[in-house]
Amino acid sequence: MTLYCENIPYSHLAEEFGTPLYAYSQAALNEAFDGYTQAFAALNPLICYAVKANGNLSIIKHFAALGSGFDIVSGGELARVLAAGGDAAKTIFSGVGKSEAEIEFALNAGVKCFNMESLPEIDRIQAIAARLDKTAPVSLRVNPDVDPKTHPYISTGLKANKFGIAYADALAAYRYAAQQPNLKIVGIDCHIGSQLTDLSPLVEACERILILVDHLAAEGIFLQHLDLGGGVGIVYRDENVPDLKSYADAVQKLIGSRNLKLVLEPGRSLVGNAGTLLTKVEFVKKGEEKNFVMVDAAMNDLMRPALYAAYHHIEAVEQKNTAPFTADVVGPICETGDFLGKDRELACEAGDLLLIRSAGAYGASMASNYNARNRAAEVLVNGSEAKLIRQRETLEQQMANELDCL
Ligand code: LLP
Repeated sequence: MTLYCENIPYSHLAEEFGTPLYAYSQAALNEAFDGYTQAFAALNPLICYAVKANGNLSIIKHFAALGSGFDIVSGGELARVLAAGGDAAKTIFSGVGKSEAEIEFALNAGVKCFNMESLPEIDRIQAIAARLDKTAPVSLRVNPDVDPKTHPYISTGLKANKFGIAYADALAAYRYAAQQPNLKIVGIDCHIGSQLTDLSPLVEACERILILVDHLAAEGIFLQHLDLGGGVGIVYRDENVPDLKSYADAVQKLIGSRNLKLVLEPGRSLVGNAGTLLTKVEFVKKGEEKNFVMVDAAMNDLMRPALYAAYHHIEAVEQKNTAPFTADVVGPICETGDFLGKDRELACEAGDLLLIRSAGAYGASMASNYNARNRAAEVLVNGSEAKLIRQRETLEQQMANELDCL
């Protein structure tokens, strides 16, 4: 038996495009996007795909065609959205440290909203908007101080995190923002963390934010939208992930009759399980204590296992009749942390292809050139058609910015 990406055997993708290779299924992208629009249909939300999860221009273009807006955190991500034909008017600018140049770029592009995260940021956006004689649409990212129960590196809504304005300071910050002549308050925002496998913190955050919405309305500060941040977690192994319909129903009930447009910023759940990292076994090294399957992908291609001890399912493209053995799947990088999976049961030998699953989100977008490795190619598969959406990097491209110094 051999494994397929939609109608194409992975072995054909490897032959045509080489390895390591990111392969994305277009049908899976569509299904994930439809999952949100259908579950939240009664609220008619604006889904703003979080570009950081996977900023490939073709992926952005695909979501734009599905009607998606975008959540960006840098001028670079805004440039990508614009280059891919995304709509600035449906783009939310998040992020804790926006530079002056980035704010100016976004104001000129006409983004839907700046999610402001501190008092100095309010001053900075006001000053730039005044200089450009523009009005900046803004919301405050409020830190609701709820525990998202996820990996500490990707939890963002606790008091101890650098993100957002403290809940207790939020009303005063809104009053301050409301006094700024070049700011127009349009919304409120929170984002408590990523890979959430429990619905209750999301619902609790929404509840707490709505209390603020009501206080603000009582003071004459009326909001147009409520942005609940990123999406739900995905299944990497056997996690119980929140059901979108239950999330949508809970949010709808909480919003009640308030006249608020819902905005969501999902990243991982739109692309994560649509993507697979295809890699070739270079050597099998059997040792006294441990066996190692050395592959041609490494932590520079997919750093989630090294960075968060994240689990990604790994399986062989061709099922073999040979006996499986237990091994760590590792890359060629000179670091003990360069592993893609630990203690996996695999039947494989040199030359075989392996699939590293659930790699569509925070895979290619977090890749680097560590050990002077070229970044992997990416393909988008639609039925029987595979489109190269990022060429494999070349050594010339890697070195181009440094040649001047020689
Ligand atoms: N909105 C904001 C403001 C965010 O900071 C994030 C993710 C999202 C939306 C999208 O969240 P999602 O739907 O993907 O959960 N590199 C880590 C994940 C970092 C997430 C950071 N913020 C990983 O590989 O697990």
